[in-house]
Amino acid sequence: MSGKFITFEGCEGVGKSTQLRLLKDYLEKTSQPAIFTREPGGTEVAEAVRSLLLSSVYKISPMVEAYLFATARADHIARVIKPALERGEIVVCDRYLDSSIAYQGYARGLGYDKVLEVNAAAVNRCLPDCTVFIDMDPAMSWRKQNGKHIINDRIENESKEFHSKVYEGYKSIAADNPRFVSVVPSADKLETHRNIIKLLKEKGMIS
Ligand code: TYD
Repeated sequence: MSGKFITFEGCEGVGKSTQLRLLKDYLEKTSQPAIFTREPGGTEVAEAVRSLLLSSVYKISPMVEAYLFATARADHIARVIKPALERGEIVVCDRYLDSSIAYQGYARGLGYDKVLEVNAAAVNRCLPDCTVFIDMDPAMSWRKQNGKHIINDRIENESKEFHSKVYEGYKSIAADNPRFVSVVPSADKLETHRNIIKLLKEKGMIS
């Protein structure tokens, strides 16, 4: 496959969406063909699985949760990610397999190996060329409005301890994987953006 596969990872509320928007603007302005997509989601079936996964109506066991994320991922890879990479495009995905490792593997306690096993057939070696980890402790990014925490979905609604484990999981997988670049966000989002562009250029992902 001739395209480049870039993923963005990090805890909730760390400014991932803003950075994805800024990267999209940059790639458009510099005429680099790219698609932006997200997980869980990106196809009709995967978006339906997303609603199931994020709805607080259901009680979902860690193992079934891991299978559902992998199911959504399998459809997303087959219909969106692989075809775009084959066309030679840059694919930028908001969350991917590393989210499953951090959330289901570390925070839910399934473990790294089990999550990889559940995902093996779905992913079928379609791994990112580069993963941007927005490195911010969730204790610093806990979203507040009028002094109240805003609860958006079943997973975001988990305890502070759960989100701390997600963060520790990310730190551990980012530390010993050369595909990762870690970015500590600054208060100035444009400075963070420039840093991301520089790192992605150094990795040969964009020009
Ligand atoms: P979303 O609203 O997209 O989160 P964010 O805006 O923070 O990226 O919701 C996705 C949620 O699903 C988020 O809490 C992370 C979680 N998740 C997993 O637990 N495992 C996974 O494999 C993926 C892709 C996401």
